[in-house]
Amino acid sequence: MRGLSWRYRRKMPAGTPALLYFAMDALEKTAQRFDQLGLSAPEEIAALFAELRSTAAAEAAQIRGADSLESFRVKWLGRRDGICSRISENWLKPSPPDFKKAIGAGLNELRASLDAAIESAKSSGADLTSGPAIDLSLPGVERPVGTHHLIRQTYEEVERIFMSIGFSVVEGPEIETPYYNFEALNIPEFHPARDNMDTFYIEGSGGQLLRTHTSPMQIRTMEKQPPPVRIVVPGKVYRRDNPDATHGYMFHQIEGLAVDNDITFCDFRGTVEHFVREFLGAKVKTRLRPSYFPFTEPSAEVDATCHVCGGEGCRTCKFSGWIEMFGAGMVNPAVYGFVNYDPKRLSGFAFGMGVDRLAMMRYGITDLQVLFQNDVRFLRQFP
Ligand code: PHE
Repeated sequence: MRGLSWRYRRKMPAGTPALLYFAMDALEKTAQRFDQLGLSAPEEIAALFAELRSTAAAEAAQIRGADSLESFRVKWLGRRDGICSRISENWLKPSPPDFKKAIGAGLNELRASLDAAIESAKSSGADLTSGPAIDLSLPGVERPVGTHHLIRQTYEEVERIFMSIGFSVVEGPEIETPYYNFEALNIPEFHPARDNMDTFYIEGSGGQLLRTHTSPMQIRTMEKQPPPVRIVVPGKVYRRDNPDATHGYMFHQIEGLAVDNDITFCDFRGTVEHFVREFLGAKVKTRLRPSYFPFTEPSAEVDATCHVCGGEGCRTCKFSGWIEMFGAGMVNPAVYGFVNYDPKRLSGFAFGMGVDRLAMMRYGITDLQVLFQNDVRFLRQFP
């Protein structure tokens, strides 16, 4: 007590050591009850609140980042034990009526200045988004990357092989006229070759249909450009088939056509063999079996030695050692007549492969339907 004037001792709340009370700032006083403050007139309240406001302003100036803003808010405005709640509990509620008004006014003013300080910290450059809360050891956000469907992958593989030997890729319409789908390919109306190419006709279109093969693009391409022609044509085709393990009303083909002055059967055979070896492996052998298509003459089915048993005979190849791959042949000279090509000068070959078949063969898939059901458990096996 030595060194303190009586004036201070008089104001000291009962039980408080004088030195401590003297050193106590307004912030600490918020922990004391009104009657411990030793106030004698309401006018003395204003000084306490002025001190609190300047303390708050000094702290607000130190706010950096979202975390420090939040601890500032909790310290001053926190519901349970914030400074404002303390003032309300400790000073306002127990105070006599003549002090209540001054305390209430001071508290409102303090709250308003706190709200303003928080708002300005939020909108100023206090950089509330950065903070120490980045945990570099957490796993990253995974963004799954899509992949091509197996059919698309197979198309690209076939296209790559043919592009490497000078073919280009063209596409055409899925809705065709009977002329391109049949007549110009030397399949007249009532020809029995139309029987296995029953398809969907567009009502009210005057006979338009969903193409049954990609061969119409042979005609469209030759109509548009003079020889030489070297193209492959990927695309969807349609037939009136009931879905089962090897059939669907829609499937995928890739057509090929090469026409030039001097193309021989040897070129045809060599090209086919090159493709099959690139696609299935160098050890695979090919053979041609006689077949029939109105737009090729002679026509052939291309077989490859079975990729499962290597030609020994197994269940996959029905113990024949051979797998049927696709239809092909030398372009029938009758077709050139439909596109104003000179059949005496020109020759060529064509082929049409079922891409679904190629994919099933290469990946050992036994049910065509899984290619179209889009079950991700299936698709994920072909990333
Ligand atoms: N377009 C025939 C089919 O779908 C396949 C084929 C194409 C045959 C080209 C020979 C030449 O069955």
